[in-house]
Amino acid sequence: MGITILAIESSCDETAASICRDGKILSNIIATQKVHEKYGGVVPELASRAHMQHIVPVVDQCLVEAGVVLKDLDAIAFTQAPGLIGALLVGAQFARSVALALGKPLITVHHMQAHVLANLIEEPSPKFPFLCLTVSGGHTQIVLCESPVKLTVIGETIDDAAGEAFDKSAKILGLPYPGGPLIDRYANLGNPKAFIFPEPKIPALDFSFSGLKTAILYFLQEQMKANPHFIEERLNDICASIQHRIITILLNKLKKAAIETGIHEICLAGGVSANSGLRKAFTEAGKKYQWNTYFPSIEFCTDNAAMIAITAYYKYRAGDFAADDATPTAKAGW
Ligand code: KG4
Ligand code: ZN
Repeated sequence: MGITILAIESSCDETAASICRDGKILSNIIATQKVHEKYGGVVPELASRAHMQHIVPVVDQCLVEAGVVLKDLDAIAFTQAPGLIGALLVGAQFARSVALALGKPLITVHHMQAHVLANLIEEPSPKFPFLCLTVSGGHTQIVLCESPVKLTVIGETIDDAAGEAFDKSAKILGLPYPGGPLIDRYANLGNPKAFIFPEPKIPALDFSFSGLKTAILYFLQEQMKANPHFIEERLNDICASIQHRIITILLNKLKKAAIETGIHEICLAGGVSANSGLRKAFTEAGKKYQWNTYFPSIEFCTDNAAMIAITAYYKYRAGDFAADDATPTAKAGW
């Protein structure tokens, strides 16, 4: 019948489950927690409680949609790190219980590796070795991928992540959390060259976004002194200019990484790779520099369990199983 894996993702504010058979995703279910919206960010304790409410119905639906019953499973996978510890614990305990009850092996998955390998879910997929720019709410990394189980971070942010740059800018503009998708929407209606924000000079392949956030804050404070309606009147242009600068920071480093490694197979991954401006600019850069470019469908860019399942499939094939009592950790390298 092939290798059938149930994967659970619960690192932040999505409770998700997916079934994968031989590298093919049979189902991919996500329950997004609405409870955080009014707080302007994810509240860890509320996230843990919502995971406990959602996990059984999400896994049930995931099995039904895949046409799979528990005894068909060959392994159970869960996100081990990084993430909110209480949230991770819910997924980990659930996965451990299922594995124990079925007598099947456990596989632990690193959330950021899974974002990268989301590029292997659909065809055409990148050929190894490839580079991946992973941009999410908590991380910004350039990853060198030599095989599904040999991934190396060759550049990363020294402060805020790209997703934080979007979300914090949105907050300054008075937009609700998470602001990234809203900036994307308004940016499509604005002029990306209307306002010029600074590009930080960071060595090697690393990134920095905290200076940009401060520059945006000071710029808006100045403008609002002269015109208290500045933000509402120029929202589209402000969003387009912020997005443009975040994209140029990201793509300039990616270009540097491609030159240094000589690799032309290049992917995007993570929640921010859902950004329409980034996808467009990345595709254009690919044409300009003769890269073969790839990015996952939107549903596999933002947090999901299909990416955990595909990563677990490759770990299964490599014989990389976890101990029965594997525990999650909030922070972890790989
Ligand atoms: O990968 P992800 O779903 O969760 C983490 O692992 O962090 O990424 C979430 C981040 C948030 O910062 C959110 O604002 C951003 O992805 N995001 C976007 C877009 N969609 C999601 N940022 C810009 N444009 C978008 N369309
Ligand atoms: Zn993520």
